[in-house]
Amino acid sequence: MRNFVLFLLMLTQTKWLSTMADKFDVPERFKSNEESVFEEFNDLAEQYQPVDLSQGAPDFNPPLKLRSAMSKIMFSGDSALNQYTRDYGHPRLVNAIGKYYSKLLNRILDPYNNIFITVGATEALFLSLQTHTNPGDEWIIIEPYYDPYVKMVKDALGVTRFIALKPNKLNGTITSDDWTFDRQELTNLFNVNTKGIIVNTPNNPIGKIFTLDELTFIADLAKKWDTLVIFDEVYQFLTFNNKKHIRIATLPGMFERTISIGSGGKAFSATGWRLGWVYGGAKILSNLRALQTNVVMSVPTPIQEAFAIIFEDELRNFGKSNSYITSFNKLVESKKNYIIKSLTELGMNVIVPDGGYFVVANWTTLAHEANITKKTTGDLDTEFIKWMIKNVKVFGFPFSSFFDKNDKYIGEGGIRFTYVKKEKTLKNAIELISKWGS
Ligand SMILES: Cc1ncc(COP(=O)(O)O)c(C=O)c1O
Repeated sequence: MRNFVLFLLMLTQTKWLSTMADKFDVPERFKSNEESVFEEFNDLAEQYQPVDLSQGAPDFNPPLKLRSAMSKIMFSGDSALNQYTRDYGHPRLVNAIGKYYSKLLNRILDPYNNIFITVGATEALFLSLQTHTNPGDEWIIIEPYYDPYVKMVKDALGVTRFIALKPNKLNGTITSDDWTFDRQELTNLFNVNTKGIIVNTPNNPIGKIFTLDELTFIADLAKKWDTLVIFDEVYQFLTFNNKKHIRIATLPGMFERTISIGSGGKAFSATGWRLGWVYGGAKILSNLRALQTNVVMSVPTPIQEAFAIIFEDELRNFGKSNSYITSFNKLVESKKNYIIKSLTELGMNVIVPDGGYFVVANWTTLAHEANITKKTTGDLDTEFIKWMIKNVKVFGFPFSSFFDKNDKYIGEGGIRFTYVKKEKTLKNAIELISKWGS
C-alpha cells in the first residue's frame, strides 16, 4: 500500500514537472530562433581574442557632430528632451528626415505620414512584417539574405519562399554585379498568396547594388501581383566603383507599395544608438502604428534629437565634401580597396562589392592548413571559421549562413569580413592571415 501511494505521488510529480517544463519553455514557433553555432563562435572568440571582422559594427567613433549634439542635449536643461516623445517619430527628426528624403526621392514627403522612426532598422523590419503578415502569407526572400528576415517572417506566421542570386561566371575577377537572379524562377515564385518581396540593396553580404533593370523587373511583378516590397537600404550611402543606389520607391507606381528602411547606425557609424527610419505611402506606414506603441512606445528622445541635428547638418551640406555621408563613403571605399587588394594578394578570391560593409572571400586556399576536407559537423565554412578563430586569430562570418538549407552549397566556400574598421585593425587581420597563406 505504501509503495502504491509513493508510486501515485511520483506520477503526479512527474506530470507536474512536465507541465512546469512546458510552461517554462520558449513557445514552439520561436524555437528555431535559437542559434547554437554562433554561440559557439562567440565562446571561442572570448577564449582566443581574435581580430573581429565578423560583425558589421565599426571600431571607431561616430562623427564628432553627432556626439557633440548628444552632449549638448544632455546639458541643455530642456527637460522635455528627457521624456517620451511622439510614438511614430520625434517631430524634429521626422521633419529633418522628411526634407532629406524629399530631396533624394524628388518628391515632397509629409513628415508625419510618410516617415516613421524605429529602434534601428531591425525594429522597422519587425514592425513591417508583423503588421503586414496573415498566417500563410508568402514572402519572397532573395539569397544571400540578412538572416533575421527568415526568422521574422516565421515569427509573423508567414511562409518564406527563396530565390538565390548566383554568379554568372566562375573565373576571373568576380564582382557583386556578376551575381544575379533567374528571371523565370522569380516570376514562378509570385502567386496569389505572395504578400511581398524583401529586397536588400546594397546587399549584405556580397555588396550587390541592384540595377535599374533588375529593380524594374521586380517592381513589375510586385504590381502585377499587387504585393508589397520591403526595401532594406541600410547601406544606401556606401556605394563604390561609381555605382548608384536606386530606390525602388522612385519607380512608377511603387511608392505606395514600398516600405523603405534606413539605419542611423549604419549611416553614421553608431550601431549602438539603435535608430532606424522608414519612408513610404501613408497607408502602409499607418499599419506600423498598430504595434509601435505596444512594442517600444517611442524611440529614445535624446537619440532622435541628436539624429535630427545631424540630418539638418547633412541637409545644409548636401553633396558637399563636409557632409559626413559623402566623406564617409570615400573613407569606406578606401578601406574596401585595401582589404580586397590584400586578400587577393594572399591568394583568396573575393567577390568585389559595389557597396555596403562587407566582402566575401573564398577560404578554400587555406583548407589544407585547416585540414577540412569533408563535412564533419555543420557546414564547411562553419568548421573553417572555428579553426580560423583558434589558429589564425581572425574572426569572420560563414557565407553559407546567408542561404536557406537547400542553397547552402552556394555559400560554403566563402567567409564574410567587414572592412568598416580602423586601418590598424584591418592591417592586423591581413598580417595574421598572411602567416597562413599558401
Ligand atoms: C541588411 C541589414 N538590414 C538591417 C540591419 C539592422 O540594422 P540596425 O542595426 O539599424 O538595426 C542590418 C545589420 O547588420 C543589415 O545588415
